[in-house]
Amino acid sequence: MTQPTIESILQEKRLFHPPAEFSQAAQIRSLEEYQNLYDQAKANPEQFWAELAEQELHWFQKWDTVLDWQPPFAQWFVGGKLNISYNCLDRHLTTWRKNKAALIWEGEPGDSRTLTYAQLHREVCQFANALKQLGVKTGDRVAIYMPMIPEAAIAMLACARIGAAHTVVFGGFSAEALKDRLVDAEVKVVVTADGGWRKDVVVPLKAQVDKALANGGAPNVRHVLVVRRTAQEVEMEQDRDRWWHELQQEVSVDCPAEPMDSEAMLFILYTSGTTGKPKGVVHTTGGYNLFTHITTKWIFDLKDTDVYWCTADVGWITGHSYIVYGPLSNGATTVMYEGAPRPSNPGCFWDVIEKYGVNVFYTAPTAIRAFIKMGEEIPKARNLSSLRLLGTVGEPINPEAWMWYHRVIGGERCPIVDTWWQTETGGIMISALPGAIPTKPGSATLPFPGIMAQVVDLEGSPVAANAGGYLSIQHPWPGMMRTVYGDPERFRKSYWEHIPPRDGRYVYFAGDGARCDQDGYFWVMGRIDDVINVAGHRLGTMEIESALVSHPAVAEAAVVGKPDEVKGQEVVAFVTLEGTHSASEDLKKELKQHVGQEIGAIARPGEIRFADALPKTRSGKIMRRLLRTLASGEAVSGDTSTLEDLGVLETLRKEG
Ligand code: PRX
Repeated sequence: MTQPTIESILQEKRLFHPPAEFSQAAQIRSLEEYQNLYDQAKANPEQFWAELAEQELHWFQKWDTVLDWQPPFAQWFVGGKLNISYNCLDRHLTTWRKNKAALIWEGEPGDSRTLTYAQLHREVCQFANALKQLGVKTGDRVAIYMPMIPEAAIAMLACARIGAAHTVVFGGFSAEALKDRLVDAEVKVVVTADGGWRKDVVVPLKAQVDKALANGGAPNVRHVLVVRRTAQEVEMEQDRDRWWHELQQEVSVDCPAEPMDSEAMLFILYTSGTTGKPKGVVHTTGGYNLFTHITTKWIFDLKDTDVYWCTADVGWITGHSYIVYGPLSNGATTVMYEGAPRPSNPGCFWDVIEKYGVNVFYTAPTAIRAFIKMGEEIPKARNLSSLRLLGTVGEPINPEAWMWYHRVIGGERCPIVDTWWQTETGGIMISALPGAIPTKPGSATLPFPGIMAQVVDLEGSPVAANAGGYLSIQHPWPGMMRTVYGDPERFRKSYWEHIPPRDGRYVYFAGDGARCDQDGYFWVMGRIDDVINVAGHRLGTMEIESALVSHPAVAEAAVVGKPDEVKGQEVVAFVTLEGTHSASEDLKKELKQHVGQEIGAIARPGEIRFADALPKTRSGKIMRRLLRTLASGEAVSGDTSTLEDLGVLETLRKEG
């Protein structure tokens, strides 16, 4: 079991103070300084954010109103005009950073490429002009379905430059999942590549786009822009599909950044929830730019000479905020890596750190646990002395993994920032500021200044120290999502009504269970809803269930998470079959594959169990708690008195 337990939290007494040398040179140098910032922000959040917005960003036009809060809908810096691509690129060109490395890319089969700020700016301008030539206008949506290559970041910045909203679709998603997103976001142009490298194999991305678009699959898509990456054969549909390198010859390198309203939609990113299809989380320009900028600056404590590497994929929010926008807005050097650790190359992460002298490294607990299994001799054989700060994100980190990270990777000298946040929050909400806040293994520590986090019960009342409750945010913040694309009611219901508003006070409900200890440190326990977290990937049980029942052999399906030593959780599916079909190993394989096709390999169940019936309450609700217990192999205890048919339990237990 890798999730922290209440007992382990209450027993965790280790405290790691920031090394004095680190603190002396840090952005925020002491607990006192943090506390002052926190108190100031709490006393007057609008003034706090406004001062930072003024200091840290370039505005074409200043705002009239800092915050317009019509719960649960917030607008920040209303009336202001800016462009995030300008803040990430143009403003650095008039400084010495013009020829500094902006993006260092390490490709999978040994390719590499470095783009300076000036070069990246030029590429982004050209790409923006190419999008314009394909008819993309301010307010249109562009999908980006790409491998981890510089063009993915270039395409994002190019969209931002001309005021088109991007929706990046993780390259591991299937054609079916891509199609759903293209339709929901009414996408006009898709940017893709012929293929991409993933763990020693070439993934045919363009072919997946063709599949998604076949038979009028996504009727709004007019063009597909294809980057050449793997040089494999692809079919190009005349009038619809264009090669990027050909279009590049036709367009100019001059493309001024469009002054955008603060609240102009910057991107939509789909994420799993409790019900229905993934929801399109909408982020807008000004608040998101400020929040990702300042969290990057204070939490990753970037120095101008630092090489910073976040191992996420740009298909997830971490890639958006902490590979592309946050680091580039700060004028940092950001590394982008196409590969992933795998048995044939278990030292690849450490090789990248050694090769580029990475100073700040940000990864997921799953990766750390996988490295622990591979053995510490692998990282120990590399020179990791350039590292000065480590980060983790995506799931709770168990104290053993934290300690290993600290000792083996950080050489006991690097502070660790365990960063809690979500697609919806836009940026990091709870994390140590590494020069100021002492850390405890397994705790994300304290909220960022301006973030009023609190553990509450379902009535919204704060719970006692160390008691379990729900993680909530008590005041709007600039990076918060603005709505669910096309479905404001779903936004309200999913995030603002679980805790009923009291006296017109709306509280953001994160969907995570948490505790706050006697020192005010947060310990995030994990999702309390039907979302499971597999290797840091967020999956909705309902999506996987829908994928399973779309197979002709399946009558009913219930999906739960089971603890997994490396991945945190694994997908277990309980399935009942349609009349004529019978259970077999082949059918299990087929069903796993079917889920892969419907959603993507990340959602494939690790285990499928056939049953005659699923355990239901008398009112017909599937008893998931019971299934979770069965899946984890624990004895079923507690109240099963509402179970409709106890015989069901026997069959399910035997299947396991
Ligand atoms: O359950 C929390 C977990 O990841 C969820 C958010 O997932 P997603 O929107 O995909 O964003 C992941 C990257 C920001 C949260 O609701 N989570 C994220 N970071 C942590 C975490 N759980 C514990 N500790 C963390 N540091």
